[in-house]
Amino acid sequence: MESQPEIHELRRNYKRDPLAETALNSDPVAQFRVWFEEARVAGILEPNAMTLGTADANGCVSCRTVLLKGIDERGFVFFTNYESRKARQIEQNPRAALLFPWVELERQVEIAGRVEKIAESESLEYFLSRPFGSRIGAWVSEQSSVIASRDVLETRFQELKNEFADGNVPKPKGWGGYCVVPETIEFWQGGADRLHDRFLYSRSDTGWKISRLAP
Ligand SMILES: Cc1cc2nc3c(=O)[nH]c(=O)nc-3n(C[C@H](O)[C@H](O)[C@H](O)COP(=O)(O)O)c2cc1C
Repeated sequence: MESQPEIHELRRNYKRDPLAETALNSDPVAQFRVWFEEARVAGILEPNAMTLGTADANGCVSCRTVLLKGIDERGFVFFTNYESRKARQIEQNPRAALLFPWVELERQVEIAGRVEKIAESESLEYFLSRPFGSRIGAWVSEQSSVIASRDVLETRFQELKNEFADGNVPKPKGWGGYCVVPETIEFWQGGADRLHDRFLYSRSDTGWKISRLAP
């Protein structure tokens, strides 16, 4: 078998054409939509998968993947359990960062800002659009709590399937969406010889300011 490189030998020279500020939309959300569409068309698996970073009141940080489920005039929406570890952190410290690592395209986008719960009616609307199994799944799991075995989940899933056999699965109270209201959005694109392009949009009283950052 061919010998595989060591981790420290994994090296790739990015080679995208330089990104000019004039090619960027003055609105970062519009720019995000352009890059998101390109990621989707390129066939990236789960282009809406993003790393969500949160921290508790003591500054202890954690991150995990969640799926972007909407973009609106306020910001970037995802759904989760309101009693999970991330939800507890958001309660203590309502700020978060999101990272889209579209590595195949030599791109990443980082979004940081305040986190707000979305309206209960919006969470309900999205919940009801989910497949039966996912709606049941939201009831089964007390996300982030310790459980004894996988059996616990499977048994509870079966019980709930019987309980909601008519297909009417209500939304659990502790399940819903959050919106990350962006204060900064950074677009990164790989360039040759580590001369990558980075543009940081920062929200100001008069709109969005764009700065080029050193790679
Ligand atoms: C591809 C992928 C997508 C995921 N999407 C979600 C999601 O949209 N919402 C969610 O609560 N967890 C999602 N998860 C699970 C989370 O990464 C995480 O395990 C869970 O939310 C518990 O996180 P916490 O203990 O930090 O609260 C996803 C995981 C993966 C790998």
